[in-house]
Amino acid sequence: MVFFSGAGISAESGIPTFRDPLTGLWALQDPEKLETANAFREDAALVWGWYLWRRAQVSRALPNAAHQAIAQLAGTREVIVITQNIDDLHERAGSEQVIHLHGSLAQPKCFACHRTPTAFSFEEPNAREGLRIEPPRCPRCNGKLRPGVVWFGEQLPAAEWKRAVLAVKDCDVLLSIGTSGVVFPAAEIPTIALRAGAYVVHINPVQVAHPSNRELCLVGRATEIVPALLSLIGLPIDDRVERPVP
Ligand code: OAD
Repeated sequence: MVFFSGAGISAESGIPTFRDPLTGLWALQDPEKLETANAFREDAALVWGWYLWRRAQVSRALPNAAHQAIAQLAGTREVIVITQNIDDLHERAGSEQVIHLHGSLAQPKCFACHRTPTAFSFEEPNAREGLRIEPPRCPRCNGKLRPGVVWFGEQLPAAEWKRAVLAVKDCDVLLSIGTSGVVFPAAEIPTIALRAGAYVVHINPVQVAHPSNRELCLVGRATEIVPALLSLIGLPIDDRVERPVP
């Protein structure tokens, strides 16, 4: 089984999605001003402050019942998680095989020499939305550190993409959870699975695909549907994640 997750899986942990009409980050902010290399060149403090605020949100958040159910399932069969999310909630729930297609908030890298500093600690516990914070400098070349995430116009990390495609081509079932499926190439993942002969199940409060003989949509929230679905296939579910079947 392969899980493919987007911002919707972390929504119930209190981390905003991007495209939900009222609460999504892109309903309130212009991504061009915050998530491009040009934005960082023009105002690095604005961009670094924005990511520190997002990092502070993530560090206060806890994995929810959907993250936990997926991690528990890995104890019973081979499970790979491919995520577009830059948070670490799958890992904190206990998932070990997690492929981050869009990078991670936890690993900044140098804007100039592209290296990842070996030891780095984030120092802005009071970061809040709109606060401009100068990025720290690279210990090797003194360039500005940038978040280790994929920005608009950038390539996905090649090794992660290759691992993801191999896993998807080899899976029996792909569960795609909480993604609008509009950002490519990540959004190709369900199609790659279908072409390789797998079943694809979308879990989302919104109907995000047209059902066909190998593709179906379970309409609802991740914390309701994922634990219920996985309990149906024999997962021993403890009290923390038990939910009525919707
Ligand atoms: P979006 O914000 O585009 O979509 C979030 C999806 O989650 C929507 O389809 C919602 O209906 C769904 N959703 C909301 N609440 C949910 C819940 N409780 N349970 C399940 N689903 C729920 O987020 P992504 O598809 O992840 O890229 O966005 C893809 C990429 O766009 C992100 O990785 C980011 C962004 O720009 C980069 O940072 C490169």
